[in-house]
Amino acid sequence: MSVTNFPSGASPALTGLPIAKVTMPALTEMKRQAKPISALTAYDYSSSRLVDEAGIDLILVGDSLAMVVLGHENTLAVTVDEMLHHTRAVRRAVRRALVVADMPFGSYTTIATALANAIRFVKESGAEAVKIEGPRVDLVRALVEAEIPVIGHLGLTPQSLHRMGGYRVQARTAESVHQLQAQAHALAEAGAGAIVLEGVPREVAAAITAELSVPTIGIGAGPECDGQILVFHDLLNLTFAPAAKFVRRYADAGALIRSAIEHYREDVEHRAFPSDEESYHLPESARHALDEMPSAVLRKA
Ligand code: KIV
Repeated sequence: MSVTNFPSGASPALTGLPIAKVTMPALTEMKRQAKPISALTAYDYSSSRLVDEAGIDLILVGDSLAMVVLGHENTLAVTVDEMLHHTRAVRRAVRRALVVADMPFGSYTTIATALANAIRFVKESGAEAVKIEGPRVDLVRALVEAEIPVIGHLGLTPQSLHRMGGYRVQARTAESVHQLQAQAHALAEAGAGAIVLEGVPREVAAAITAELSVPTIGIGAGPECDGQILVFHDLLNLTFAPAAKFVRRYADAGALIRSAIEHYREDVEHRAFPSDEESYHLPESARHALDEMPSAVLRKA
């Protein structure tokens, strides 16, 4: 058992932040006001609740969960049902941040399947927007027409791993820079509410950011993007691999958790846990009554 309910809906106030809900239009307004957008992935109730209470503007239930939560080698294996399961948990935790669900590989190959799956994310998990990878301009238009806010994702798109031949920084030639710029403009014109730029040179992301009226959210794309996103487990060192160049580890939760668990194991092995204070006791009357019974077998504690 664990207590997880919001104490009368007050949790974000713990940080002193206003509770005003972040919406898709609010992201555009933040760009207009030159207010940086903070974004982070999260995949379950407790971590999302912490992320939300810390005042992060956008929570992405990323398909990176395939790797950091489910232990797959890449993001390709995660299914719509698995993503829905995690998005529901996140949705239950979040009061303020915009909750965005990542459409997994294979879930938007045609406009019809994309619409059906995106509607599931909105209806069944409470996602407020979906994210799709690649320059899928017609698809973005169709989703927006169906009233589903969309975030695009360009540059290094992990679902294109096999086509790219590995995770490589994109847009490194003049031609590919122009191509990326054109894709970003096309997605914005089709109605994408924001565009994640991943693994692209800083100069390229800065130029795209300056040209677009919708916000860019960078990951490995330099500081000029309108916002930044990281993977929760990267930020906290909960991965089991060296960090990519763009990752900053803000804490070593891996070391903290490992040491706490080792301490617990030692306490169990030495019978130092639980203590008498951490144990329940019989009421005095019941103890006496049991003592009086000839068949009493209670051991004196
Ligand atoms: O799945 C993911 O984590 C992402 C990123 C943009 C961080 O797509």
